[in-house]
Amino acid sequence: MQTLNIIRPDDWHIHLRDNTALKLTVSLAERTFARVLAMPNLTPPLTTVQSILNYRQRILAIAKNDHFTPYFAVYFTNDLNAATLREAKLCPWILGVKLYPQGATTHSDWGIDDINKQFANLAVMEELALPLLIHGEVTTNTIDIFDREARFIDTVLTPLQQRFPKLPMVLEHITTAEAVEWVQSMPAHIAATITAHHLAFNRNHLLAGGIRPDYYCLPILKRQHHQQKLQQAVMTKNQSQFFLGTDSAPHVQDKKYSACGCAGCFTSPIAIPLLAELFAANDALPLLETFTSINGARFYQLPLNTERVQLTQSPWVVPEQYTTNDTTFIPLLAGQTLSWQCHFIEGLS
Ligand code: DOR
Ligand code: ZN
Repeated sequence: MQTLNIIRPDDWHIHLRDNTALKLTVSLAERTFARVLAMPNLTPPLTTVQSILNYRQRILAIAKNDHFTPYFAVYFTNDLNAATLREAKLCPWILGVKLYPQGATTHSDWGIDDINKQFANLAVMEELALPLLIHGEVTTNTIDIFDREARFIDTVLTPLQQRFPKLPMVLEHITTAEAVEWVQSMPAHIAATITAHHLAFNRNHLLAGGIRPDYYCLPILKRQHHQQKLQQAVMTKNQSQFFLGTDSAPHVQDKKYSACGCAGCFTSPIAIPLLAELFAANDALPLLETFTSINGARFYQLPLNTERVQLTQSPWVVPEQYTTNDTTFIPLLAGQTLSWQCHFIEGLS
């Protein structure tokens, strides 16, 4: 039986949600990950440092592992100002500002309608070296959903990077060959997160032989050649600009499995076993730790975790559902068997 011992992973892009869902999402995240970067698209959105500190307390009240550390990003709204940015920079738990183009995804209604009106804020962020975390898709209805990331890079991101060349940026949950190549052409203060599901799947998994809502997320799964390009990026040495952000995004069942189902794959409990299976199948297991546990910490200038986790090549049946109190979420690959499993911290369930 093959085993692999790696530095405990971090998840640099997760949706922990709030209220009744929080107990479940935090309990699952802390089993696997030492640190997470929790996204601010709550209702109402996390637009102030104080709202983030309050959210942090709600999370810490649930976490059982004293070492579990949640980090945050401020939601970039049209009302963002320099004072909030300066306060955010001084807060040790805030790693950046999250840009959602208005209408791009779940709870993005408070997002930016015109980035060209935000140059004053972006200049302050550049001065502070406060990272801009980007949901990189155009939202124009006439642009095909499969082209929205590539179009964003050409029409929004490249001009933005040229105007603010020193601004650290993370292009979140990238899905295309164009995004991989763009990041590779940039200096080290520009990086990208990649999800486990965009590495393991392509749009056939979502659409061929039946429509499978579990695989529906934004940015949407793309063609196989894009998936292969993402795999190549994380399974090649010295690709330090790419790191894991699961974008684990649970939705309650009646919202997820409906005629107009919500975008989001719930992958927090399966991401690491799924990645181990994928890296093993590609003879790339020695590079897994770099992607899950090293590159992200280096980008955010944080120390590497000292705890380690054990992965073993032994079958693991993904639970049909996860339930805590009155919240139930169905994970991606529910009921299916993965060939690797991750051994959790004792006492956390
Ligand atoms: O699929 C997604 N779900 N993509 C996002 O960008 C947001 C997320 C959510 O919050 O549900
Ligand atoms: Zn997300």
